[in-house]
Amino acid sequence: MSTKTEFASKIGLIAATVGSAVGLGNVWRFPAEAQANGGSAFLLLYILCVLILGVPVMLAEFSLGRSTRSDSIGAFRKLTPDKPWWIVGATAVVASYLILCFYMVVAGWTLEYLWGSISGELYAGIENLGESEMRGFFNGKMEYYVQSEYRPVMFLSIAIAINIGILLGGVQKGIERLSNILMPVLFVILAVMVVVSLALPGAGAGVTYFLKPDFTKITPISVVNALGQAFFSLSLGMGILITYSSYYPKNTNLMKTSIIVSLLSLLVAVMMGLVIFPAFKSFGLDSEPMQGATLVFVTLPEIFARLPLPQLWSTLFFLLLAVAAITSTISIAEVSIATLQDRLHIGRKKAVLTILLPLAVLSALPSLSFSSLSDIKIFGLTIFDFLDSFSTNILLPLVSLGVCVYIGWILPGKFLRDELTNHGHLHAWPNTIAQQIIRYVAPLLIILVFIYNLL
Ligand code: PHE
Repeated sequence: MSTKTEFASKIGLIAATVGSAVGLGNVWRFPAEAQANGGSAFLLLYILCVLILGVPVMLAEFSLGRSTRSDSIGAFRKLTPDKPWWIVGATAVVASYLILCFYMVVAGWTLEYLWGSISGELYAGIENLGESEMRGFFNGKMEYYVQSEYRPVMFLSIAIAINIGILLGGVQKGIERLSNILMPVLFVILAVMVVVSLALPGAGAGVTYFLKPDFTKITPISVVNALGQAFFSLSLGMGILITYSSYYPKNTNLMKTSIIVSLLSLLVAVMMGLVIFPAFKSFGLDSEPMQGATLVFVTLPEIFARLPLPQLWSTLFFLLLAVAAITSTISIAEVSIATLQDRLHIGRKKAVLTILLPLAVLSALPSLSFSSLSDIKIFGLTIFDFLDSFSTNILLPLVSLGVCVYIGWILPGKFLRDELTNHGHLHAWPNTIAQQIIRYVAPLLIILVFIYNLL
């Protein structure tokens, strides 16, 4: 048995877990999904998915981690030593590492854009351009920032170095301390950006566009997307929540924690909507698709360029994005680090370096798949897209399904009840609901999403 450290405070453990949950999923995936699926009609669907499915599955992961105080493989081994259920945990480790390989690349881009904003390089020469030339200008920048061969790899290395620096500090002095500082920073920046965006001329129409539900746009596919969004955005099925909760003190109220984390993640998504929709409307861009990378790396810089003080807004936004990305990468790297530490009984330093140093090479491959390696394809996809869809669409639902079946059907009902009530010290009623969802509703919905993704 390992002697694990714990998060030092309740605020700290919430900051760290929210730091993991709030990532690119909230910032660039949510507005795109909302735009494509009827604005707040999608938001409502998404809230339902988060509350009905996200919270219970999160509780399932929390109960595994906190009860065993083990990494995501060790948790299953401790509870059922003679059965092969640890394979679910091992799949989570594999999924998380694959995700880390491409997510770190994006973290590198955010640092690159942050630097471009601070140094002014991103906007150099913009004064001489007409409005119609802006799009081409920022497309060119993105090509240079993302598709050139050395530059992105250099910033990728910086992102890895930052992760190493934080993770070497350990759970309390690294992850927790950093999250305690960065999460408030993220919320403050986001609040400033919401205010600025709402003050733009014509912003009101953008808010209406976002918040007025258009239920005609809701299709079965929207439901699948909302479910997928809830899973990705709450960091489910990656082993992250098992790992982080293994550092939760025994008296943590898991139900309360999962609801706070989910609501804060939801809040970030909604605030992001309140930044992006009004800004798009105000600049007459509302007919354009808010597509992931193009949205944040081309369209938003174009909007900043048209505002007074573009460098300031751009620096704030990319700082927000970098914070969101880095607090997510550390959480996902921690899954493998904890596994290595616990399984092989090695020291933290060795584990951190063994997991993160090879990334300099492993992540360089998806990074370069935008440039010289762009013609290397796996099942018709670039290495980056392959890693993304294989892990997100296949491995994550499989792990979540495994976790639900394990908690709902393999372990005795008493296990979850004990964990959620802290062995009888907390109220029991929401736990019965969670139990039933984990047993029946979640597995069924996950299987549906999985089949849909495969087709
Ligand atoms: N919840 C994260 C997000 O929205 C998902 C994630 C966490 C992805 C950690 C990678 C690493 O971006």
